[in-house]
Amino acid sequence: MTKIDLLTADPLKKKTGALVLGLFEEEKTLSPLLSSVDSALGGEIARMRKNGEIRGKAGETTLLPTYGRLSARFLLLAGLGKAGSVTSESLRKASGSAAAVLRSRNIPEAVTTLALGSADPVADTEAVVEGTLLSLYRFETYKSDREEAPYALKSLSVAAEKKDEKAAETGRRFGEVISRNTILARDLGNHPANVATPTMIAKTAEEEARKRGITFLSYDREKLDRMGLNALVGVARGSDEPARLIVLEYRPDKPANDRPFLLVGKTLTFDSGGISLKPADKMELMKGDMSGGAAVLGTILSVADLGLPVHVVAVMPATENMPSGRANKPGDVVKAYNGTTIEIINTDAEGRLILADALSFGIRTYHPRLVVDVATLTGAVVVALGGQALGILGNNEELIERTRKVGEATGERGWPLPLFEEYFDQIKSDVADIRNTGSKGGAGTITGAAFLHHFVDETPWVHLDIAGTAWVDSNEPYKPKGNVGMGVRLMTHLVKDLAEHPLAEAEKAAAKGGRKARRA
Ligand code: BES
Ligand code: MN
Ligand code: ZN
Repeated sequence: MTKIDLLTADPLKKKTGALVLGLFEEEKTLSPLLSSVDSALGGEIARMRKNGEIRGKAGETTLLPTYGRLSARFLLLAGLGKAGSVTSESLRKASGSAAAVLRSRNIPEAVTTLALGSADPVADTEAVVEGTLLSLYRFETYKSDREEAPYALKSLSVAAEKKDEKAAETGRRFGEVISRNTILARDLGNHPANVATPTMIAKTAEEEARKRGITFLSYDREKLDRMGLNALVGVARGSDEPARLIVLEYRPDKPANDRPFLLVGKTLTFDSGGISLKPADKMELMKGDMSGGAAVLGTILSVADLGLPVHVVAVMPATENMPSGRANKPGDVVKAYNGTTIEIINTDAEGRLILADALSFGIRTYHPRLVVDVATLTGAVVVALGGQALGILGNNEELIERTRKVGEATGERGWPLPLFEEYFDQIKSDVADIRNTGSKGGAGTITGAAFLHHFVDETPWVHLDIAGTAWVDSNEPYKPKGNVGMGVRLMTHLVKDLAEHPLAEAEKAAAKGGRKARRA
């Protein structure tokens, strides 16, 4: 991975391969930094700008040799779009585009000024670091003739003002840690399902947990059967690949929260649909159906790496969903860990089954203050929000709104969908307590969340449906085609935010002696 450090000295004086400068669209005057670079280059930037040869549009990059007129061998101008519309996310994208150019030109080191003089040096430095590291990511494990250096950019100095040094260093550290663990999540999602099995994911989680003093537990199918996690075991029974329930606990010395935050991630290592078999077209993408689990793993590792004073438990139900003589059949009824009986109408609605048990097991075992679950749960969320936002649902308005805000700030945006009482009618069963798919068509994402609600009761809970955002089918500025590692950034910041500013309701409940918060 590219080495990243801070530079508080004059970025124009540093001898380096390339100097990265941001350029706004439709800006009349050049920034002081751009002006001094412009005069060193004999007014060339102003000239190109006047001719419309460079515009500063978002995504635009212009690489210019400096012929010894600057300490940097090259100048790389990165378009930022209109000045008024710049956000951390646009800096993340511009940094990603810049890093791609630096790599393609084999430039080993560079200085970036994209976060220099920012009004929010913590968030913007983090964004520049993430944009760079996440853009350079490649998954080439199975390529026989790999590129020589997958991370050609060896080191990057992020320029910051002296007065912002502490803030920028915080941002740098967050960016580095979150990127590293996002890359771990991406790798797990990009490995084929014959490699990233529940066993392999458990082993990875165990090794990473051990390095950080995180407690690791794993339950196999026989144990889960004895414990009564029948909804999870039912799905696992159709597959020959051993299933696991993976549990990680990070408990720092003086946590801000007495009771933990519980993170639950769908870790379905291959979703064939089971007896309700999926069509062949694009089925290979279902190796990524474990992205929710990878996200909670990446999050708890980040929390530990950053030493955040937050008590966190991550639960990952890991299994395949396969058709076989022992698989769930439409019409089968299973009794979940919390006693709810479920009629399985469609074996392809398996994510909610394994999450049901993971949620109620996690809640009963760890008495969390709140729960976040994350899952590639429904194709319907792709219809509703496409690749631009994840679905946010839950039982606590404040938690939903806080999640939306953190999503906005971190560039992993989500948008709320309702959970009106009437939607719960859609999962009433004739033979059991509930059914696993809606009796009426429509609102598939909501039906999935309504189902999960039966397993969280009163605990403040938010559900993130990432089916539309977990992977991309073409390259985006800092998201190479493939798995995105979606959710690590959002959840790491959400956990931090909730520890620093507890939910008002949870505070009230704690004051009343630990009574659980009510459903909103
Ligand atoms: N893993 C899928 C959801 C999915 C779809 C993820 C597209 C990523 C991209 C999930 O298990 C599933 O099959 N859901 C069904 C539910 C239906 C049977 C009620 C769906 O969305 O079609
Ligand atoms: Mn499915
Ligand atoms: Zn699935």
